[in-house]
Amino acid sequence: MNSLVGKKLKHFQIEKLLGKGGMGVVYLGHDTRLDRPVAVKVLRPDVTENRNRRRRFLQEARAAAALNHPAIAQIYDVDEADGVTFIAMEFVEGKTVSRLIGNRELDLVGAVEIALHVAEGLSQAHKANIVHRDIKSDNIMLTRDGHTKLLDFGLAKLLEPMPDNGESEIYRDLKTTKTMSETRAGMILGTTAYMSPEQARGMPINQSSDVFSLGIVLYEMIAGELPFKGDTPIDTMHAITFEEARPVTVIRKNLPPEIHRILLRCLRKRPEDRYPEAGALADDLKRLKREIESGIHRSDPVSGIFQRVIDWVKFSLPFGFKGITGLGVILILAAIVVFAKVNYWALGAYALILLFIYRYIRNRKSRMLKKFTMKVSQFPEVRVISRKEDQITVIVDQAMAKLYLRINSMIEAVNKKLYFGKPVKAAVRDDLSNQEFQKVLREPGVMYVREDVVIKPESEPESS
Ligand SMILES: Nc1ncnc2c1ncn2[C@@H]1O[C@H](COP(=O)(O)OP(=O)(O)OP(=O)(O)O)[C@@H](O)[C@H]1O
Ligand SMILES: [Mg+2]
Repeated sequence: MNSLVGKKLKHFQIEKLLGKGGMGVVYLGHDTRLDRPVAVKVLRPDVTENRNRRRRFLQEARAAAALNHPAIAQIYDVDEADGVTFIAMEFVEGKTVSRLIGNRELDLVGAVEIALHVAEGLSQAHKANIVHRDIKSDNIMLTRDGHTKLLDFGLAKLLEPMPDNGESEIYRDLKTTKTMSETRAGMILGTTAYMSPEQARGMPINQSSDVFSLGIVLYEMIAGELPFKGDTPIDTMHAITFEEARPVTVIRKNLPPEIHRILLRCLRKRPEDRYPEAGALADDLKRLKREIESGIHRSDPVSGIFQRVIDWVKFSLPFGFKGITGLGVILILAAIVVFAKVNYWALGAYALILLFIYRYIRNRKSRMLKKFTMKVSQFPEVRVISRKEDQITVIVDQAMAKLYLRINSMIEAVNKKLYFGKPVKAAVRDDLSNQEFQKVLREPGVMYVREDVVIKPESEPESS
């Protein structure tokens, strides 16, 4: 396929090549209408030359475009122009999970966190009856601020209500000999190593096939190797269909046994023995994450209910939480003055207590951020932590995925516990120039500086 760099597809200016995959070529582009970057995936002509297949693909991609979840890379447009079929989607600045695995940038918490985000995004798709069909570590990216993005929903197959013979349309194609060339196009969906047994055998698939593939990605992230491997694609498919994976707990020591149980349930050969859809897997991963983070299992339904009530109050009040709290306090004080024959000393004491409570709640964010700083400063690669209002900057020697995943997860926890006030954001930087670095050090808001960091005095302005 000729390079499209420098050309325009509709209102997408193609700027540079990002990568190549089984279905086509991905470019960085610029949406000249909305003035934002986009990733443009141009499909291989042989994949889309069949009119029926192309039509069905466009239809499926449109269904996938309706998905809207932070863990799913948004599809902006699917169309044909200048004789090519393309998908314009959210440009994700980050690394693919397969690269993170190769660089050994993930730890257990990081792996669980990524799998959890993907499962949550997938769950939304599964509820809408959309199966991704091509979950693999190349189709999951992680951004610098620790957000996970699942790519390539354009290839997902909208699960039609089961046709009369109980098979999905695509597998009817796969079984008829006259469409052998289409079979190959169909087989590209799903790289063999991540296929579910039913995909490998050309049987109908459903949501639990994605669960199997996500299980493989989770296994790969934790063990650093694939559970089912063969010298040829056929051998790999054979392993997927008939062999049991080596337990991750054998490959890596000191893992919580729960992780083995979750993986077993994802990788069961019979679809009905697995989690039926990604939401059920997400629930277990959430529980596992909590367990790993706290070291012990703790179920806390009371605080859960409390948090939900607070969230409800926060979002459904017209004047916001602050306004209502203020109004409540004034009303209570007024009621005391009007109805009770209290002496004014007691009233003063009440007011003092209320003021104290107000200050306690108001300073909650600062206290939590202090705790956050203490925890983050334990990582040896962290050089400086600084805060400018609600933006935290963590400057590190080298930004490893496991670190920014951890930081993002901690910030999420802080934001969850914040009963009112703006949420906090965090950025991990390892790309500051010396000058920029020194500037951060001189500015107010520095919360932590590693011992070996040298603060240079601001150089005198050059006099002429
Ligand atoms: N939305 C995106 N934003 C940024 N980079 C992307 C995006 N989509 C793809 N890429 C990059 O382009 C590369 C090729 O992607 P592509 O989807 O074509 O290949 P693949 O995922 O390896 O295979 P498959 O065709 O099965 O999905 C990816 O590895 C990734 O680095
Ligand atoms: Mg891809």
